Formats: sequence, structure tokens, C-alpha cells
Amino acid sequence: MRLIVSGIIGGVGLVAIVAVTGFVIVYTGAYNVAASDEHADFIRWAFSTTMHSSVERRADGIAAPESFSDDMIAAGASRYKAMCAHCHAGPGVERADWAEGMRPQPPHLIEAAAEWEAREIYWIVANGIKMSGMPAFAASHDPEELWSLVAFVDRLPGMTAEDYAGYPDPDESSQTR
Ligand code: HEC
Repeated sequence: MRLIVSGIIGGVGLVAIVAVTGFVIVYTGAYNVAASDEHADFIRWAFSTTMHSSVERRADGIAAPESFSDDMIAAGASRYKAMCAHCHAGPGVERADWAEGMRPQPPHLIEAAAEWEAREIYWIVANGIKMSGMPAFAASHDPEELWSLVAFVDRLPGMTAEDYAGYPDPDESSQTR
């Protein structure tokens, strides 16, 4: 009995210490929020794993089109060049200098897109990712426009610089939105 009581007191004490430490970190500014300062390995792992699990779970019910037409991919290319390439780069095109200063850095989708299913890319583009700088595009773009972006991003892994340059450049409507 005495063992159980001291166990409970110990557990409550531990929770209190963790909570107090958390509040001290939050209110004293102990954690450096500067983007110029890398996250500690543990924090980076926690954010990245949370992001992957959250996207996988929430994208589960989304039904992607069975295939993407060439017109759709071309429309997505023009939008990608207008709205995404300055952060995510493209074959033969580097991201903007200022995007190098983002934390987390926007990944090169030429490689990173291969890790995601089309429905997950759709979810990410539609909803964005909190506290990362990845915007949510669903408020300003309809599903057809979003799927065209997915169609293009899906093609990025393995795309050559020549192929990328050959896709249409942004038209006025995609630049202003
Ligand atoms: C202002 C910069 C910015 C813009 C513009 C932007 N993104 Fe992102 N994006 C990010 C950042 C930062 C991440 C990384 C988020 C993370 O790791 O938590 C990200 C992550 C992603 C991912 C997940 C990749 C991975 O493996 O982490 C996809 C897919 C993506 N963006 C697609 C797009 C598309 C498509 C567009 C254009 C419609 C776009 N993004 C525009 C900053 C941006």
C-alpha cells in the first residue's frame, strides 16, 4: 500500500516537474526561435515525424484521379513555376536565396516528392504545414488547380532540366494568385 502511495506521489511529482520546466522554457525565451539557428536533433525529429504521421492519417480518405492528362500536367507546371519553385527549386533551377534561410528548409521536390502518394501531396498543398512556412493553397485555389499541381509534382522525380524548361512558363493568372 505504502509502495503504491509513494509511486503515485512520485508520478505526480514528475509530471509537475515536466510541466514547470515546460512553462519556464515557454515564458523565459530559453528556446531560440531564430531560423538561422538549427533545431536540436530531437526537436527536428519530433516535428518531422509529427508532420509525416499527420499527413498520412489525414490524406487517407482522399481519392486521387486514376491518371493525369498532359494538359493537366502542363497547367500544373506553369503554376508550380509561379508559386512553388522559389521555395522548392526544380530540375536545373535553384530555390530563391532567401528560401535558404528558412527553417525547416523547403525540400527539393525533385527528390522529396517520390516519398509521397498523390493524395498526400494534395493534402499538403491544400492545407499547408503549420510552423514551417509551407502555405495552404486551398483558400485561393480550387481542387482542379490543386490537382494540376499534384500532377506536375508527381512527375518531378527524375525530370531533366530540359523537360522542366520545356513546360509552359507562368501565365498572368497563376502569377497573381
Ligand atoms: C514560402 C515557401 C514555400 C512555398 C511557396 C511552398 N512551399 Fe511547400 N514546403 C515549404 C516548407 C518549408 C516545407 C517543409 C515542411 C516541413 O518539413 O515540415 C514544404 C513542404 C512541402 C511538401 C512536403 C515535402 C516533404 O517531403 O517535406 C510538398 C509536397 C510541398 N511543400 C509542395 C509545395 C507546392 C506544390 C507548392 C506550390 C503550390 C509549395 N509547396 C509552395 C515551403 C514552401
